[in-house]
Amino acid sequence: MASLKIVLYLGVYLSFRITAMAENNVPKAENVHWMSLDFKTTLTWTNKPYKYRYSVRYTWDERDWHDCPDCTLISATECDLTACLNASDRTYMADIQTESLDNNLDTDDLPHTFSPTFNLYKESNISTVKFTVKRKDDSRVTVNITDTLTGIHQNGKQLTIRDVLKKDLEYKIIYYKSGSTGKRDMTSHLSVVDVPNLDAGLSYCFMVAAYISSRPPASQHGTWSQQQCTKEESHVHDLKIGTWVGVVFSLAAVIVIIVTVVVLCCRKQNKTIQTSQSSQPI
Ligand SMILES: *[C@@H]1O[C@H](CO)[C@@H](O)[C@H](O)[C@H]1NC(C)=O
Ligand SMILES: *[C@@H]1O[C@H](CO)[C@@H](O)[C@H](O)[C@H]1NC(C)=O
Ligand SMILES: *[C@@H]1O[C@H](CO)[C@@H](O)[C@H](O)[C@H]1NC(C)=O
Repeated sequence: MASLKIVLYLGVYLSFRITAMAENNVPKAENVHWMSLDFKTTLTWTNKPYKYRYSVRYTWDERDWHDCPDCTLISATECDLTACLNASDRTYMADIQTESLDNNLDTDDLPHTFSPTFNLYKESNISTVKFTVKRKDDSRVTVNITDTLTGIHQNGKQLTIRDVLKKDLEYKIIYYKSGSTGKRDMTSHLSVVDVPNLDAGLSYCFMVAAYISSRPPASQHGTWSQQQCTKEESHVHDLKIGTWVGVVFSLAAVIVIIVTVVVLCCRKQNKTIQTSQSSQPI
């Protein structure tokens, strides 16, 4: 009987606390999402923190929790965690705590929300890469890719995706003859790639994306770039010059023929006149 009483009291007490919290409208973080592009990582959530602040803590072993200074007692509903997270292959979890600015409130009762887990190294999206294309010779085009800068700074240097992903970074190149639908592709660990076995003289178009085969399929490909095409080549140029040379030669030939014909005709006429004159009997 006594234990039932205790349970009853406890129930009544708890429901009072819950009602009190609901009345205070303590804003618990909701819809927590990780957003990460080129290793710049933001945690976002919803709910306005009226009269309250949020503080984000994070862990990768679920034992030690760390504060992120820029994400402590903030009134925004998002926070940039880039400077706090390490882009090595580890799984992070964040905890968003609602904090009161009112010291009289019992802070133990304030709500908190765990984020989904997030592996920065494996899940950060990679944006489109910049690249140039240039004919190397009759059968090869050089694709020169710029390793994109990340949000991570180390020893005063802004790291590139190659600095972070190292040997795991590859580039996938799709290419095709301009105007044709037949596509070929290749991957390379390099940033300057010679694409071989191309037809001389034709224009080719290229598209590039970062490719990380060690990642799960959903995050393996970076965003595909816009296509870049090579210009039609010297052979076409030669052909044009050839055509012009031909036209000039033909014109010259025509002029020569006309002049010759005119000259010959005049001579003949003169001769005829002379002959007719001399043949006239005196
Ligand atoms: C990566 O991009 C996809 C597609 O735009 C998006 O759904 C996903 O949330 C992004 N992931 C991160 C970690 O930003
Ligand atoms: C991640 O931490 C390791 C040591 O734990 C360190 O060597 C590495 O430089 C860190 N990387 C970044 C991007 O902070
Ligand atoms: C690739 O482009 C960079 C500039 O974006 C340039 O410095 C470098 O020399 C180029 N490399 C080759 C092989 O063309």
